Amino acid sequence: MIHMKQDFQGMPFATTVALGGLSLLVYFFIRGFISNRRGGLAKLPPPPVVPGLPLIGNLLQLKEKKPYKTFTKWAEIYGPIYSIRTGASTVIVLNSVDVAKEAMVTRFSSISTRKLPKALKILTFDKCMVATSDYNGFHKMVKQYILASVLGVNAQKRHRCHRDTMIENISNQLHAYVKSCPLQAINFRKLFDSEIFGLALKEALGKEVESIYVEELSTTLSKEEIFKVLVLEPMKGAIEVDWRDFFPYLRWIPNKTMDMKMQRMTFCRQAVMKALIKEQKKRIAMGEEINCHLDQLLSQAKTLTEEQIVMLLWEVIIETSDTTSITTEWAMYEIAKDPNRQDRLCREIQNVCGSDRIKEENLSKLPYLSAVFHETLRKHSPVPIIPLRYAHEDTQLGGYSIPTGSEIAINIYGCNMDKKQWERPEEWKPERFLEEKYDSMDLYKTMAFGGGKRVCAGSLQAMLISCTAIGRLVQEFEWKLKDGEEENVDCSGLTSHKLHPIQAILKPRD
Ligand code: HEM
Repeated sequence: MIHMKQDFQGMPFATTVALGGLSLLVYFFIRGFISNRRGGLAKLPPPPVVPGLPLIGNLLQLKEKKPYKTFTKWAEIYGPIYSIRTGASTVIVLNSVDVAKEAMVTRFSSISTRKLPKALKILTFDKCMVATSDYNGFHKMVKQYILASVLGVNAQKRHRCHRDTMIENISNQLHAYVKSCPLQAINFRKLFDSEIFGLALKEALGKEVESIYVEELSTTLSKEEIFKVLVLEPMKGAIEVDWRDFFPYLRWIPNKTMDMKMQRMTFCRQAVMKALIKEQKKRIAMGEEINCHLDQLLSQAKTLTEEQIVMLLWEVIIETSDTTSITTEWAMYEIAKDPNRQDRLCREIQNVCGSDRIKEENLSKLPYLSAVFHETLRKHSPVPIIPLRYAHEDTQLGGYSIPTGSEIAINIYGCNMDKKQWERPEEWKPERFLEEKYDSMDLYKTMAFGGGKRVCAGSLQAMLISCTAIGRLVQEFEWKLKDGEEENVDCSGLTSHKLHPIQAILKPRD
């Protein structure tokens, strides 16, 4: 500090004047820039408003738990960007690829923060996961960890054996079922979920378990019960609606039913996760190291707390177990419904693989299989709305001004059903991805994986598992829907789960 003062005093007068002049210029330039920007924004109109009721806004119009469908209908009336009110909050809803990309890429710095409802806040231990954290130092650190030990290209190469085992197990169980109960419909989801959950446990903790004693619950849980506590119940809990989310000024009023339910759910989840981790720590103490997220976090992430480690491991389990299974089930539903396209896919696989079983190495030579995957993601977007973001400063989107404090809902389902972008969007038509305008390597064309800096970190794993599974299931069996199953197209949940598990009749191919 003293040196600086001396240096300044020692400056020639002319230099001081020149520097002073320069500072003034810079000052006026910045002021002009800011006021232009504000003026520019002020001149922009606000987005169209969907009319609602005083106080509650549009809440009544959204009371069924599939807001993405209502948002998409509104887009036909109010355009690709409009604003709604959910109680005290203003939500800007984006329904086209252009405005969604603008939000995720161009204006990312103004809307990079997450806004979570109370249920998700409790479930995620206040944003303590890669997918739900704000874009900050914690996010960058934990994203690097998950990529290095589970989801990045090299980590995926190391976990290849688990994926191969999973596909082999599914195929064997289907053959066994078809042999013992020929022409009887099978609940494919139950089988697939159990196998992918096993894979998730191996990636997160190193080993699969068939049962575990949970001290805090004084009981032993089977693998199916562990799946329920770690995956099914939290996914249900994530869409619990707490009216206090919409009226923050009433937050002081207790909502005991909701609070107790969420507390019980998180308590059980933590208890099971801790029991699973304890078991694996015994393995590590005995000198058995495995290439998995737990071992990596324990050896590298010295600054993380025990609770944070639990949440980051649970993240791998829940994200691996849910969306990939949804995509594969919807793909099999569409394939089973459409014998011509099923034949086309089967012939493509036969031409490339001959009598060998399809492997991950073959995927790049199977454009129709890739098209089936992308078309399924488009029509049945597993994450229909990106977890809400929040404008922490004034910004603009689609030529409209967006004030600080607005919540931003990116309606991926709406983008993928946009009639201006997709011809007959309601039809499942994989051929559309064989047209030249789509690059087969472009994962973002359906927006299913989001985009920009927060793009899905698990897209490679999802693609590898889902494409190999779909290919193998079609290569080995002829799929046909059980009578009446065609109509079962309802979905439920935060992710677009098929409401009724697919019921298909399988016939082994010769
Ligand atoms: C078909 C399957 C999947 C779909 C459609 C999907 C979709 C998405 C979407 C829409 C986002 C939010 C992007 C955003 O906020 O802009 C996301 C984020 C994320 N996904 Fe996936 N996902 C899938 C599979 C997976 C899998 C298997 C994992 C494995 C653990 C995974 C891990 C993540 C993570 C860690 C993030 C957060 C990335 C970040 O915030 O930086 N996803 N995913």
